[in-house]
Amino acid sequence: MLATRAPRLVSARQIGQMAKAAALTHAPVSTISTYRPILGAAQNLAHHSQIRHFSILVTDKIPEKDPPKTRVTKPIFPGPTYTEEELLAVVPGHRQPRCLSDRLAWRLVRGARRLVDRATGVTDVKPLTTTQYNARILFLESIAAVPGMVAAVHRHLYSLRKGKRDQGWMKTLLEEAHNERMHLLTWMNLAEPGWFMRLLFIGAQGVFFNICFFARWVSPNFFHRFVGYLEEEAIHTYTRLEKEIENGQVKGWSDPTFPIPEIAIEYWNIPKDKQTMLWLTRYIRADEAGHRGVNHTFANLDQKHDPNPFEQDTRNTSSPVPNAILRPQGFERFEVIEGVKPPKDESESTLK
Ligand SMILES: [Fe+2]
Ligand SMILES: [Fe+2]
Repeated sequence: MLATRAPRLVSARQIGQMAKAAALTHAPVSTISTYRPILGAAQNLAHHSQIRHFSILVTDKIPEKDPPKTRVTKPIFPGPTYTEEELLAVVPGHRQPRCLSDRLAWRLVRGARRLVDRATGVTDVKPLTTTQYNARILFLESIAAVPGMVAAVHRHLYSLRKGKRDQGWMKTLLEEAHNERMHLLTWMNLAEPGWFMRLLFIGAQGVFFNICFFARWVSPNFFHRFVGYLEEEAIHTYTRLEKEIENGQVKGWSDPTFPIPEIAIEYWNIPKDKQTMLWLTRYIRADEAGHRGVNHTFANLDQKHDPNPFEQDTRNTSSPVPNAILRPQGFERFEVIEGVKPPKDESESTLK
């Protein structure tokens, strides 16, 4: 009786409230079964509103083969190569802010993270769904591909203005931008962005690009610290994804037979036994670890005079090139720039 009348007598909002109340108060089984038809309706409504909520952001996809006419060309920058040990050794890490500008950069990134968490309904309690991961990763990667390009443009213009050599900065920065774009293109095979996500992409380009351009102009050190912190957050997200895939908590992606995008296999040259979502996550996380270490290091350097320590000096090939992947805090200036002495309270160089 109640079941047949319920849809006409109770509004959708009331049904939702009743379902919520029953769940929150751990109502006895008999009470729940009395309201089972209503609860079913409420769950359906919640489910549909969730689908609507996420379909404006993303829709999950299973990667397909590229269309036959797709031209595959040599990449501008070849994909990075990693040993298995490196892929497994990346862990979340944090560089403690040491000055006001560091603190500001850290607070901005944490604030942005909280906003994204709220927008995608993420908590520390429940594993994320593929749709939640897709929404976060598409947004994160569309943002992450901007700063490297902005910084490279600044270095390019600076070199033109001053008639000075760039000393290797532009290559690393452009490589970072390209690498982030490959992350986005890889994930576009796993998720179709909805209209709201596409709006966010435009926002990232129209607003974030200009904010980045202004910030890099005002303070390059602050800018690179901000990017370093952004990368720390990316590593947190990919590490969580790695753990949840490993624990079998991500429906579809935890299955080792789930196909990974062709573009990723080609870019990272992923061997057959690692063509799973678990290893793909580790490849991308290793890239983010590189960006984290590089940007935290760049934030420690003298932007006008120091060379980029991550590019080999072709006139002195015996000079070591530091590996930023396993260095969450980046390198201090005295560790990577010849002739710079450590401050008295710093320990000996740990450059490896
Ligand atoms: Fe990325
Ligand atoms: Fe990154």
